Amino acid sequence: VQTYESIRHQTLNLCAPLTVEDHVVQPYDFVSPPKWHLGHTTWFFETFCLLPHYSMDAFDPHYGYIFNSYYESVGAHVPQNRRGVLSRPTLEDVRAYRAHVDARMREVWNDQPEWRQVVQLGLEHEQQHQELLLMDVKSILFAQPGKPTYAAVGEPGADIPRTSGWDKFAAGIYEVGFDGDGFSFDNEGPRHKVWLDEFSMAKALVTNGDWREFIEDSGYQRPELWLADGWRWVQERSILHPLYWTHSRGEQWCEYSLSRGLQPLHAENPVSHISYFEADAYARWRGCRLPTEAEWEVACGNQSCASHWQWTRSAYLPYPGYQAFAGAFAEYNGKFMNGQMVLRGGCFATPTGHYRPTYRNFYYPEMRWPFSSLRLAR
Ligand SMILES: [Fe+2]
Repeated sequence: VQTYESIRHQTLNLCAPLTVEDHVVQPYDFVSPPKWHLGHTTWFFETFCLLPHYSMDAFDPHYGYIFNSYYESVGAHVPQNRRGVLSRPTLEDVRAYRAHVDARMREVWNDQPEWRQVVQLGLEHEQQHQELLLMDVKSILFAQPGKPTYAAVGEPGADIPRTSGWDKFAAGIYEVGFDGDGFSFDNEGPRHKVWLDEFSMAKALVTNGDWREFIEDSGYQRPELWLADGWRWVQERSILHPLYWTHSRGEQWCEYSLSRGLQPLHAENPVSHISYFEADAYARWRGCRLPTEAEWEVACGNQSCASHWQWTRSAYLPYPGYQAFAGAFAEYNGKFMNGQMVLRGGCFATPTGHYRPTYRNFYYPEMRWPFSSLRLAR
């Protein structure tokens, strides 16, 4: 129960630096207001732990519709792009909802050992939302003309020392995917064999300084570097630089960070907030490529959580023999295995203890609001 309390409390901690107004806006369709995260993570425990096992009423009959994200088997829900129009329930109502559900969870904590696995899934889910919350908060605060800071959150700060060089791996049969005790998401298994040809992996992530060279070499203006969908995206959106870079102080590049707001670009820090399309074009410009997720896991799987998620060239697909979670949780991962690309490695916003080397994150190739970066392979 201490784990439950501390993870639930951490979500509130993450919201503590925000104003009431910060909690309710939705600058883009894919960004959720922090108030919605607070309600949705609570709805998860109420819907999947409390209501099926106890004769109790829902805290509010409308909350199922408001805070269900995408579980079609559970019922209808507010469309994702309409979350920012919800002025009710108020932030105070949602905090009361959290307190109510937490109190009930404490009361029944020792009752039902069979739902312990669902509680664990609920906590892993809440930790995923803690990372999403920081992505969304960054988008929300950057949308404000004053570019306010949020709080210290462990982003790479001043220039960090750069490692260079490559690690080389022999051709052969390797095993990847989760196998063992402890929690994993269904998409991480089963563990299986893969054939890899000889490859090399860069020891370090691509830096802001590296990326500036790509920009100065007209990387965003050269169609031969880009995938067709990527080139269309660059043209339609007039993309010229990573998401949170600006030119606001004369000609000097600045970068917005949660901890420090808008500040001059640190050349040695990993580049971040780039799309798959940008990562792919950059790698091609360097005469390299992105790693596959199997190469990444073989080369980097023994490393701890990284500062940034790293795009791979692997489409998000089921592993051979994939078995989705049972019941409504079959909708957790499997139904998104279409049109998205895998990122590996975790990031500074990943809660401690939440990350595993087999963890597969996934986003659509044009998405730049994740804390994404890249590592070159060849
Ligand atoms: Fe969720």
